[in-house]
Amino acid sequence: MFALPLTSHAELRPLESWMAEEFLDHMDRAREHISPWVSPTFAAADLAEARALLRRYADLRARDAGGIWGIWLEGTLVGGVLFVSFDAALGVCEAGCWLEPGAEGRGLVTRAVERIVDWAVLERGIQRVEWRTNAENTPSINVAKRLGMTLDGTLRQVYPSGDRRIDIEVWSVLAGEWRSHRTQAAADTAETIDS
Ligand SMILES: CC(C)(COP(=O)(O)OP(=O)(O)OC[C@H]1O[C@@H](n2cnc3c(N)ncnc32)[C@H](O)[C@@H]1OP(=O)(O)O)[C@@H](O)C(=O)NCCC(=O)NCCS
Repeated sequence: MFALPLTSHAELRPLESWMAEEFLDHMDRAREHISPWVSPTFAAADLAEARALLRRYADLRARDAGGIWGIWLEGTLVGGVLFVSFDAALGVCEAGCWLEPGAEGRGLVTRAVERIVDWAVLERGIQRVEWRTNAENTPSINVAKRLGMTLDGTLRQVYPSGDRRIDIEVWSVLAGEWRSHRTQAAADTAETIDS
């Protein structure tokens, strides 16, 4: 219904509970690729799990405590972005993302996260946007870097994984840094158009 263009072929839209079947079809294409990097409940394995996940995010959205948005590429749901948590009173939120493999390498997630962080910082007054990622997840770390985030630190051995434990990197961008990052990005775009 409501859509924000990301490119001439891709758009960002609310991902709602009634889209569970479409979400599951997308997960069937994405599950193997994303499973090592996302929480086990996210990579829904059947329709009941897909419904439960989307309902959980609908509930978070209703409580202004999180949310989920899908990325459609030429009409097909290929990934999305989310606020895992969102606390307007505290001024802190955590963003996240995923893509099915065929949609990687086009800047879709970077653009989509920019949209939701713009909303969080410029419209909702969020002061700190966090990005938590497995320390071995180079593509996710690269997204954080493209967004102008800073590595706050590494939480060591947070989760079990087989016979070892996973380190989590915490990246963040503060409201003032985000405004500077966006101003610089707009100036770079204007320069490219002029040249
Ligand atoms: C993390 C993940 C979403 C990153 O996907 P991605 O395609 O690399 O990220 P983007 O959509 O922002 O695209 C960036 C890529 O497109 C390229 N690109 C092309 N046009 C671009 C543009 N206009 N702007 C930015 N990047 C652009 C970039 O160079 C980059 O490619 P590179 O890494 O080969 O240099 C994806 O790897 C994934 O889903 N992984 C599994 C799930 C996961 O890890 N989720 C995060 C948990 S914290």
